[in-house]
Amino acid sequence: MAGLDWTYGVSTLRQWESADYEPSLPVSEKSNPLTCDIDRASAYSIVKMLQVCDSQMFQKEAGTTYQRLLSDQVLKTLMEVAKRVEVIIKDPQESCVVMSGCGTSGRLAFLISSGFNKALSQLNQSEVYSYIIAGGDRALLSSQEAPEDDPRLGVLSLKKVCEGKKRVLFIGISCGLSAPFVAGQLDFCLQHPEVYTPVLVGFNPAHQARDEPIQDCTFTFHSVVQRMQELAKSQKAFLINPAVGPEAISGSSRMKGGSATKILLEVAFSAAHAATSSNTPITHNGVLQHMMEYERTLAVTYSQPDGITTLVEAAGESLRCSRHVYYLGWGSLALLGLIDASECSPTFGADYEDVRGFIRGGYRELNNNDGPLTSLGPKFSIAHEDFLHLILPCLTDKDTVLLIYTHSDDATEVGNMARRVREKTPNLHAVYHQADGDTAASLQQDNIKKLCLSTLKITWPQEALVSGTLQHMRELSTKLVLNAVSTGAHVLKGKIYQNHMIDLQVTNTKLYRRATRLLQKLSTCPEEKCEEALLKAIYRVDMLTLEMTSSDITTHTCFARNSTKVVPLALVILLTGWSLVEAESHLKQQPIVREAVAQWMW
Ligand code: F6P
Repeated sequence: MAGLDWTYGVSTLRQWESADYEPSLPVSEKSNPLTCDIDRASAYSIVKMLQVCDSQMFQKEAGTTYQRLLSDQVLKTLMEVAKRVEVIIKDPQESCVVMSGCGTSGRLAFLISSGFNKALSQLNQSEVYSYIIAGGDRALLSSQEAPEDDPRLGVLSLKKVCEGKKRVLFIGISCGLSAPFVAGQLDFCLQHPEVYTPVLVGFNPAHQARDEPIQDCTFTFHSVVQRMQELAKSQKAFLINPAVGPEAISGSSRMKGGSATKILLEVAFSAAHAATSSNTPITHNGVLQHMMEYERTLAVTYSQPDGITTLVEAAGESLRCSRHVYYLGWGSLALLGLIDASECSPTFGADYEDVRGFIRGGYRELNNNDGPLTSLGPKFSIAHEDFLHLILPCLTDKDTVLLIYTHSDDATEVGNMARRVREKTPNLHAVYHQADGDTAASLQQDNIKKLCLSTLKITWPQEALVSGTLQHMRELSTKLVLNAVSTGAHVLKGKIYQNHMIDLQVTNTKLYRRATRLLQKLSTCPEEKCEEALLKAIYRVDMLTLEMTSSDITTHTCFARNSTKVVPLALVILLTGWSLVEAESHLKQQPIVREAVAQWMW
C-alpha cells in the first residue's frame, strides 16, 4: 500500500455513478470503489481513503441522475425549509420543528435540536426544536435496531411530541430512504397537511427509495416518497436528498450520511436564525457560502493525516489486544464521542466496553428528554466521574484515552483529568480545537500537551468565530476524526472484509437483507442458500425446522438479537460445508474474520 497514489483520477472518484456499477443497489448500500482494499491498508492509508471518500460529499453535479450537496435544487429547497423554520421561530407557542430518525440519524436529530435550542435560549427566545429517536432515549447511547422497522411506533412518538401544536415542520431523516419508522411518520404527516409539513432528508435519489412492503401497511418508503414528490411541486412537502457517494464501509451511513445530515440541517436552521435576528432575507448565496464552510472544515481536518493516523494506530492497537478506547470529552464535542462510541456495537459487532464515551457533566450536560438513564445498566454511565470510578482503577497502558476539548473549555479541569489518566497510562492523546491567534490558553495547553503522547491540534480561522459557525465546524471536524479512529481501529482489528462490515448485527429487515446480499457476494452461492445459512447461524442449528423457515423476517431478527457472529458463521458454513459446531470452533480459533474467510477463499 505504501505507493498508493491519492490523486485518484476523476473516473475512479466517480465510478460509483456509472449506471452499470452495482446497479441493483441504492447509492447508500453500494460499496465504494475507493475503499475496496481498506481491510489491507495501513493506518495512514485508511485515513487518506476516508479523506477522499468524505471529499465525494462536495463533488459537483455531473449529469442529471444525482443531485449533490451543492446542487442548485438542494440549495433552493434548503432556503424554503429555512423560511418555514423562520416562521416557526417567530410563532413558537403553537408550532415546532421535529426531527426524527433511527440510529445515528436520530442521534444527530438530538445533537442538532439541542444545539439550536440552546442558541434560541441564549437570545431569550422560546425553544422550538424537538427530536425523536426510534427506540427512545436509550437509543442515543446504545443500539436499538428493531424499532426502526415499526411505523406505528414512529407515528405514536410523533403525535406525543406534537400534542397541542397547530403547525409542525416534520423532518424525517433516513439516509437510505428506507426506515419504516420514518416512513410511518411521513405518511401520517401527509394525511394531516393542515398541521404537518413533511421534509425528508436522505442520500439516495427518490427512485431508489426502499420499495419493500412494510408489515400491516399499505405504503412503502418508495410510495411515500412519490406522494411527497407530488406535493413538493406546490411546496407542501420537501425532499432534500443529494447523493454523497457510497460509504467507505458499505452501508455505514453513520459516516457520510451522518455528516451530510448535520451539514444540511445546520445550514437551513442557521439561515433561519440569522434571518430572524437580523431581519434580513435568506439568500441563495448565504446558504451556498455556509455550505462551503463545511467543505473547508473537511480540508482543515484532513490537513493533518499524520495526527489522525497516530490516533487510529493507538486505538487499533488497543482493540487488537482486546483492550479499550475511551473518549473523554467536554461540551457538544463529548456528545460526538458518545455517539461515535455507541455506533461501534451495531456497526462492528463490538462490545459496549470496546469503545466508550464520557461527557463532562453527564446527563446534566446531555439534557435529553428522559433525563438520566444510568439505571438502565453500566453502558449508560457516561459522566467523567463514572470514568474515574469505574474505569480508571483498571486502566492499563494497553488502553487508549482520548481527550476531546476546545480552548474555551476549562483547561484546569482538562489538565486534572489528564494527570489522573497519566498516572495509570502514558497512552493518552488529545484532540484540541483552538482559534487562530489564540494565545491566552497556551501555557495551560502546553502543560496538557506534555502529558499526552500525541495532540491533534486543529486551528480554526478567526472568521469562523465571527460568523458564529465555529461550534458546528468543530463538531463536524470531531465527528470526522472520531469516525476515522473507530472505523480505522476496527479495520486494523480485522473486522472488515474488503470494505464490508462482515460481523454486522442482523437485527432489522434492512440489516437482514444486507447480510444476505453480503453472503451472496462473498460466497457466490445463490440467494436461497445464503438465506438458509444465515438462518442456521441465527438459530444455531444444522437442520432448520419448518417453524423456523416459515417465520417472517421480524421473528428472525428478534431471535438474532441474542446471537453473535451470525454472518461470519454463515459464511464459513457456505464456504466449507462444515457443520455449525465445526464452523463455530474454526471461528473461535481464528476470530479475525478476514483471515478465517481467507483460508477458504484462496
Ligand atoms: O439499522 C441500523 C442503522 O443502519 C444504523 O446504523 C443507522 O444509523 C440507522 O440504521 C439509520 O439508517 P437510515 O438513516 O438509513 O434510516
